[in-house]
Amino acid sequence: MDHQNPRTMSEKVLPVRTPDDSSHAVIRVENLSKTFVHNGVDVQAFRDVNLQIPRGQMVTIMGPSGSGKSTLLHILGGIEPPTQGEIWIDGQNLAGMRDLELTLLRRRHIGFIFQSFNLVPTLSVVDNVTLPLVLDGVSAYSAEPFALECLQRVGMSHRLRHLPSQLSGGEQQRVAIARALVIKPSLILADEPTGNLDSARGRDITQLLVDVAHQGQQTVVVVTHDIRVASQSDRLIVLLDGHVKFDGDPSQVAEWMAAMQLEFHA
Ligand SMILES: Nc1ncnc2c1ncn2[C@@H]1O[C@H](COP(=O)(O)OP(=O)(O)OP(=O)(O)O)[C@@H](O)[C@H]1O
Ligand SMILES: [Mg+2]
Repeated sequence: MDHQNPRTMSEKVLPVRTPDDSSHAVIRVENLSKTFVHNGVDVQAFRDVNLQIPRGQMVTIMGPSGSGKSTLLHILGGIEPPTQGEIWIDGQNLAGMRDLELTLLRRRHIGFIFQSFNLVPTLSVVDNVTLPLVLDGVSAYSAEPFALECLQRVGMSHRLRHLPSQLSGGEQQRVAIARALVIKPSLILADEPTGNLDSARGRDITQLLVDVAHQGQQTVVVVTHDIRVASQSDRLIVLLDGHVKFDGDPSQVAEWMAAMQLEFHA
């Protein structure tokens, strides 16, 4: 397929805010903190997170259950507001954005892959994948070739007319990945994208996400419990006790963990 942006075919182009940041970071986060209030008690997910993630990088986030990984991903994607701190995505500051601006930013710049897939149960595989483009004003007919290319990349060309309920968990996950890729987002956020896949398929999907980052100059942030996924990435961030405790080369994490007397439990 050509690399034409599918959105150029859209007749209904809505305005998006012009980037006000000249840096090349797709994600910039400053002093980010999140505290939930549950039954009157503060539950701190994380505190004082500072990050810059450039275009073309595949980053993994690891940490024990409850360390705030999913919360951080949701906040980076503008799904949930932080308690403190600021976030720039593609140079656009999320703070103070109106709902429509945030919706457009998510729709056009961010591809989400949720652990629970979030596929529309009444739509076929191909219609689920064209949906983000159709919602942005591209006709289903024009969007279909882009969907077919993404479905081919994730090895799902043989199930185009199936409904999600007629697919295995791993197949649904691959459709969810195709749906995230179809808008050619500058940022892909994935929560445990290999959690439902066997190890060979998990390796393939991780490699696909690495290729997406490196070849497509997109940025990929993946939450995982799997050190094998982390070892395929360019950079590993470890959240522990509400803080970023490691941020660097995944090949050095084992040494760091040994020094800290830590173990990851899948
Ligand atoms: N809506 C909420 N209200 C109150 N507390 C919450 C809420 N969402 C998350 N938390 C708490 O915030 C902390 C971080 O949760 P989060 O889901 O981000 O963890 P996680 O690292 O993704 O864990 P897991 O590996 O189990 O998915 C947990 O202690 C959780 O109980
Ligand atoms: Mg989680």
